[in-house]
Amino acid sequence: MQTLTQLRQLGLFDARVPRYTSYPPATHFKPGFSADTVGDWIRAIPENATISFYVHVPFCRRLCWFCACRTQGTANAEPVQAYVDTVKMELAQIAERLAPGVKIEHLHWGGGTPTLLRPEMITDLAAAVKDMAPLADNAQFSVEIDPNEIDGDRLDALAAAGMNRASIGVQDFDPMIQEVIGRPQSYEITKDAVEGLRERGITSLNADILYGLPHQTKERMADSVQKLLSLGPDRVALFGYAHVPWMAKRQTLIPTEALPSPEGRLELFNTARELFLADGFAEIGIDHFALPTDGLEVAHQNGSMRRNFQGYTEDKSEVLIGVGASSISRYPQGYAQNEPATGKYQGRVRAGELASARGHVFDRDDHLRGRIIELILCDFRADLNQVAVELDASLDELLAMCAGLDEAMPDTTTLVDGVLTIKEHAKPLARIIARHFDAYEMNASGHSQAV
Ligand SMILES: C[S@@+](CC[C@H](N)C(=O)[O-])C[C@H]1O[C@@H](n2cnc3c(N)ncnc32)[C@H](O)[C@@H]1O
Ligand code: SF4
Repeated sequence: MQTLTQLRQLGLFDARVPRYTSYPPATHFKPGFSADTVGDWIRAIPENATISFYVHVPFCRRLCWFCACRTQGTANAEPVQAYVDTVKMELAQIAERLAPGVKIEHLHWGGGTPTLLRPEMITDLAAAVKDMAPLADNAQFSVEIDPNEIDGDRLDALAAAGMNRASIGVQDFDPMIQEVIGRPQSYEITKDAVEGLRERGITSLNADILYGLPHQTKERMADSVQKLLSLGPDRVALFGYAHVPWMAKRQTLIPTEALPSPEGRLELFNTARELFLADGFAEIGIDHFALPTDGLEVAHQNGSMRRNFQGYTEDKSEVLIGVGASSISRYPQGYAQNEPATGKYQGRVRAGELASARGHVFDRDDHLRGRIIELILCDFRADLNQVAVELDASLDELLAMCAGLDEAMPDTTTLVDGVLTIKEHAKPLARIIARHFDAYEMNASGHSQAV
């Protein structure tokens, strides 16, 4: 019962505990970040390097009430066309600074809803990305697909552009829950999207599904998971619903009284988890499942899996450049985030500037803490001896970062011969344990500043 008590005390499912898709979390990036610095970081990418690339499309035809993503509704194509034109300008600005021979190994289009683009916009944008830097042989090109916002022509355009991976948004199959969260989506529509993707050779298909939604019960969760399994995904992201109405105003439409308790959420997670495991999926980190043959599980098994803005990834690139409003880039020197508001972003780019607004320059402490946090979230285990060798640190300074953990979170971890391991029953607390290593979230007394 210790874990459940701690869940209550520590608010495991408190959306204010970072998901650590970056360290420091993006909330700690500093405003007023110089575009010149980012220009220098782009120029410093060596000739013939391989990089990762992210394109953000912050538009949706409909705005689902549960959604906390940065996106805006649009009923017509004009603002989308203007946005695509702006992103093409940003791509040209990056190209001017990029050394010869740089290639893209991982390309990801996300949002919002990238599949809202018309087929000709998809073709045009993909060509502009490749003009900036060609795709490497065996590159992975993945796209977030809303099954409600896709058809044969757009799938053809994406496939012709080289898409070979996809992620579909499912959330929940129950029509009553869909209505309450403002996301109607029939099983047939989802099935059509899956079949359309498979017909076009998509071999790695992810699906997003949520636990912790209003009115979810164990039975409804099990039913949703079984429906999802019938569609044969290769990977599943089982996200805990984050109720953050102070950030995502649409969520004020969600009936808070129908949200499950922390214990209820854990039960929902475990219900889904058991079904995925019984179906042969491997459990990955805090919220993913994948078939043993899927590249993510292969990377997980061989210890090369990483964590970045897209969550868990096989992507090992040191450089991830993001274009579009609010996109975050990661360079060996630090993070840079574009202007979050679409209008302001477009104004900056159209004025001929790189659109970075906020950022963070890494220091040595960031590298050490960030790596420990990444290992905790990927493997529930951090071999500090390995981190010391990797990052040229002393074991003693890494051990010093563990001080106070056992007192703050008793009976959750072991530290033996420099290896920090999260106990099985405490795995749901991984984000809170990771936060102990977060120098930005924790004040000197060891308590989170956010809570
Ligand atoms: C950009 S969206 C998905 C792409 C596409 N627009 C769609 O709806 O299918 C990325 C994912 O974030 C997750 N998400 C959005 N809001 C969330 C929230 N409040 N809590 C947890 N996950 C959320 C959903 O699972 C969603 O599929
Ligand atoms: S879930 Fe997808 S379609 Fe719905 S609002 Fe969020 S990004 Fe848009």
